[in-house]
Amino acid sequence: MSQTLDVLGGISAEQFLTEYWQKKPLLVRNAVPEIVGLLEPNDVMELALDENVTARLIKQKDRDPNQWNVKSSPLLKADFQKMPKLWTLLVQAVDHYSFDLAELWKKFPFIPQWRREDIMVSYAPQGGSVGKHFDFYDVFLVQGYGHRRWQLGQMCDEQTALVAGQPLKLLQEMEVHFDEVLAPGDLLYVPPGLSHYGVAEDECLTYSFGFRMPNISDMMDSLGDYFSEQEQLKKPLLDITRSVCTAVGEISDHELSYLREQLLAQLQNPEMLNEAIMCLASQPGYPNNIPENDEIGTGDLEEALEEGYLLNIEPASRLLYSNFNDELNFWANGERLCISEEFKPHLKRIADGEMIALDENLYDQHILEDLAELLNNSIIMLLPSEEN
Ligand code: SIN
Ligand code: CO
Repeated sequence: MSQTLDVLGGISAEQFLTEYWQKKPLLVRNAVPEIVGLLEPNDVMELALDENVTARLIKQKDRDPNQWNVKSSPLLKADFQKMPKLWTLLVQAVDHYSFDLAELWKKFPFIPQWRREDIMVSYAPQGGSVGKHFDFYDVFLVQGYGHRRWQLGQMCDEQTALVAGQPLKLLQEMEVHFDEVLAPGDLLYVPPGLSHYGVAEDECLTYSFGFRMPNISDMMDSLGDYFSEQEQLKKPLLDITRSVCTAVGEISDHELSYLREQLLAQLQNPEMLNEAIMCLASQPGYPNNIPENDEIGTGDLEEALEEGYLLNIEPASRLLYSNFNDELNFWANGERLCISEEFKPHLKRIADGEMIALDENLYDQHILEDLAELLNNSIIMLLPSEEN
């Protein structure tokens, strides 16, 4: 029998993926007890005022709670003056600011890292909400502080009727099938398209572990960027075997089909398509959150080998690998990495979410050079180990 997971309320990851993921909601009581107390409402307020943070302050008018107002970051102290009774503060990518929170992604080891978007936190006083709505992504809503009542309704899509004239995409109607209050540590999985409405029962913090999938338009864009940089593709094509043309204004069907074939021939190249996909999948969601570090050299790392440091992915960066055709290759923050064969197995473990020790096992010039490069680009980070 496959292993059951506490975070899924005692069902296995296999069962979750077949029955729930992208299909139906799942409520799990006390699924993530570690999240309780990680942040307090004041921490979220403070974070929202950081000039680099992506945040939104959503207010409902006292006289007409159906009238909404949204102020996007940068948020200033003045934005929090003269507050109505009902409001919500949303702060994106809090996992880039709290390492302990970033570690909680590991509660979901059955979904690959490239699908992760960010952890958003919402802070609201009693009665606060962001309205009845649906999202296009998978989300695990985890209650961190206080209580929130969640109602779930029908499945929605692009055709679903929205309220006109509001700065938020609000649903005109929601048929409630589920109505539960979440307490700290409780989790609710909401699949893409499912309407939901979360209202704070008291002063509360809710974390959204959000996942992303690329769309075809962005993949085409990435493909275009990649193909347009290829020197060998810049040479004009050879002409077709020509017969005398009868209308100079026309591109004939024959010519169009020849040009289409040339394009499609390039699109048949899996290596090139993979490259474009990997560059896109490794794009960071919040590049401004990637810290700028002091330059480190291989000499500094050599000295640090015995000081008990750990190596970990920098939470705001994206490090991915592919094993296509049994060849291990790495990408980070939208670009392919050039990594020595010696370092590849270690970097694979880091990309898989392991913290690895910076010790004599890494004493190799190629490895130290790779490490310095990755640290200087904030793709990985150094952490003092627990014993220090
Ligand atoms: C919230 O936490 O209030 C909003 C999260 C969501 O609806 O996706
Ligand atoms: Co939502």
